[in-house]
Amino acid sequence: MTAARTDALVFFGATGDLVHKELFPALQGLVHDGGVRMPFIGVARSPWTTEQLRARAKDSLEQSGRFDPQAFEELAPLLHYISGDYGAPETYVAMRRALGGARHPLLYMAVPPSVFPVVTDALAGAGSTEGARVMIEKPFGRDLASAKELNRTLRRHFPEEDIFRIDHFLGKEPVQNITYTRFANPWLEPVWNRSHIHRVQITMAEDFGVKNRGRFYEEAGAIRDVVQNHLLQLLAIAAMDPPGGAGPDAIGDEKVRLLEHVQPLEARNVVRGQYRGYRSADGVAPDSTVETYVALKLFIDNWRWSGVPFYIRAGKELAMRSTELFVEFKRPPRDLFGETVPPGSSHLRMRIGPDIAVGFGMRVKVHGEQMVGRDVELALTSCPGDAHPPYQRLLSDAMAGNKELFARQEGIEASWRIVEPVLGDATPVFSYEPGSRGPVQADGLTGTDGPWIDPAPPEPTECR
Ligand code: BG6
Repeated sequence: MTAARTDALVFFGATGDLVHKELFPALQGLVHDGGVRMPFIGVARSPWTTEQLRARAKDSLEQSGRFDPQAFEELAPLLHYISGDYGAPETYVAMRRALGGARHPLLYMAVPPSVFPVVTDALAGAGSTEGARVMIEKPFGRDLASAKELNRTLRRHFPEEDIFRIDHFLGKEPVQNITYTRFANPWLEPVWNRSHIHRVQITMAEDFGVKNRGRFYEEAGAIRDVVQNHLLQLLAIAAMDPPGGAGPDAIGDEKVRLLEHVQPLEARNVVRGQYRGYRSADGVAPDSTVETYVALKLFIDNWRWSGVPFYIRAGKELAMRSTELFVEFKRPPRDLFGETVPPGSSHLRMRIGPDIAVGFGMRVKVHGEQMVGRDVELALTSCPGDAHPPYQRLLSDAMAGNKELFARQEGIEASWRIVEPVLGDATPVFSYEPGSRGPVQADGLTGTDGPWIDPAPPEPTECR
């Protein structure tokens, strides 16, 4: 058991894209804003030096626009690099040496899922799991069976309270804002159900491709990469029942319960796509059928949501970058004014990125003698971006042993149960043009529920 505070961070996969994009900015924040002082030890196979790792950190900070010369001067000396094979005992001897007097490292696995068990077993073989916490990246497993197996491997070497299953969406400010908005406004709860909500859409559109992550992506695809984890977590937060009690597990319990009531996906409710050009990306098979886009419809088998369709779309190389939750309210039971009203005119929109926004859509009357209206969206809050990178918050929580914002094993297993019937080539993959809305076949999925509602383009505003 590790009640002690973390005194070092070891990150596996140190040369990878994830560490470049997310970890270095978070570490600079921890050092500069949080006053954290401990060794940060990167481990990977490439024969790099510590200087190269520091240069990589600098590049990451410059590219993300977060480079702060003073903060970097504090961060750089804490970074160390170890080159070695993940399965080789020498790697862990070098790691112990670099840890010096540290006894309670946080071991962060930013490696592909197939490598997690290799590292875990080798760490245990070297006696390096004692007193440590482990933080493990998504996707947790490749399917239900491997997620259970991975969990067994971890549990052999770590007690449950020391295992942190990271899903960085849970550390995002606008995701916490969904929970806040739902339960801080008492008028929402009475309408948050099948009587008043027509459908719910979650869109995660990205306007870039897999870049240099082809090898990782070939193991994942959009369903494993973002649906099984990020987007089902969003769905759980949007649809869960209000938590009772005040314990740290109250929200987690409700999310798990919700996910357990989601019906497993059926092939007829899924459309997969692949952008033209994906197959020539580095690390991608020339005849790959891995999806870079998915659109799906699912249902929740409980009293609150019975019959309400939940739509999810996620894709790379699309026309815009925007992730949002769009809750569409029902139309009035009688149309008194003889108007043709666009779908989704009455809604709550919660944008998660790249900007943050909460908007409330309503019909208002156009001034004049006629009883005609127009759609307006009241911007309740908006902000150009998240000033607090989620990894900074989550690392800091893991270092302190706080698991509230981490995924739970039961929820992960429930999510695999939902997507498992449509993994791999269970459905055909249609190609789409980069910069488009994805494969046209996805338009056939919504039927009489009305067309997809594309996310609104981000608005450059001041935070309010
Ligand atoms: C990661 C996925 O988990 O999330 C990426 O592996 C995706 O494919 C990324 O681009 C999106 O995260 P964010 O925070 O930039 O929206």
